[in-house]
Amino acid sequence: MKQPAIRFYDEHPTPATMQEEVLQGLSAQPRRIAPKFFYDERGSHLFDAICELPEYYLTRTEMGILESCADDVAQLAGPDTTLIELGSGASRKIRLLLEAVRPRSYLGIDISREFLRQSVERLAQDYPWLDAHATCADFMQDFELPDVAGDGKKLAFFPGSTIGNFEPDEALAFLQRVRRMVQPDGALLIGVDLKKGPQILHAAYNDRAGITAQFNLNLLQRLRDELDAEISPQNFRHRAFYNSVRGRIEMHLVSRCAQDIRVCGRRFHFESGDGIHTENSYKYSVAGFHALARAARLHPHQVWLDVAGLFSVHYLSAERGVGR
Ligand code: AVJ
Repeated sequence: MKQPAIRFYDEHPTPATMQEEVLQGLSAQPRRIAPKFFYDERGSHLFDAICELPEYYLTRTEMGILESCADDVAQLAGPDTTLIELGSGASRKIRLLLEAVRPRSYLGIDISREFLRQSVERLAQDYPWLDAHATCADFMQDFELPDVAGDGKKLAFFPGSTIGNFEPDEALAFLQRVRRMVQPDGALLIGVDLKKGPQILHAAYNDRAGITAQFNLNLLQRLRDELDAEISPQNFRHRAFYNSVRGRIEMHLVSRCAQDIRVCGRRFHFESGDGIHTENSYKYSVAGFHALARAARLHPHQVWLDVAGLFSVHYLSAERGVGR
């Protein structure tokens, strides 16, 4: 089938290679590998499977909130909007918004070039009325935003509580960057997972089917596949727990025995119980997130929660004096 034309902009700075980052992380104390490395093809599929798990309430709860707030968001955004999706995925969430908001144009921004191209082409195909654009960029870095907005207002969309992967100072820097992106009169619609009893959180990251464990351990398989690492994933186990002092879920890969692993000719020794820190997933209270938004000069205009108060979707306005 012929793909409809989309405008594609490449702003991807030459990234530090995975090899460099992994070696650096394994040499650090404590050892760490960034969660962005979870998402090779198998990892992305495992993440999709996580989103379907009975214990993983985040995705379906956010989807429910979006279903009920989409018309309000359309009202707030107004006509002639440019919808900017940060980290465009294959998700149903953006489709819901597109159908409610009916923006003039859409811009997907993602660091994964081919994945981005395919998902934006699919959107262009399914919504022929939509002026669709894609920019390959790392939105944590500075990059040029293509001028697709015309006079329209910009509405950025950052779902999935991905902001939880950032350290609080990085989250602030990210929100400041988004503010610059959508100013003077735009807004950010963002999904944020909420603080709650540790049992629910623990279950969400320690599912009975063991999919989250596979997702975490897949990182080691990826080191084997892509960096020729000498490492046996069976010699590590998944560990996830809620760190209530820091307000975050932590995921680690913990060595089951004393062992050496080898990555790119370098040897790393693990005692039994030594770990690699692979992810933080920060949880916010509504008030805590509002404080963070305000520090970035984004004004909390409206927030929607599910009835159980598990998850939040915030509409933050860049406009001075609006929504305080
Ligand atoms: C994609 C970062 C929102 O933190 O819940 C799911 C990733 N990790 N299960 C999350 C994840 C383990 C997810 N985020």
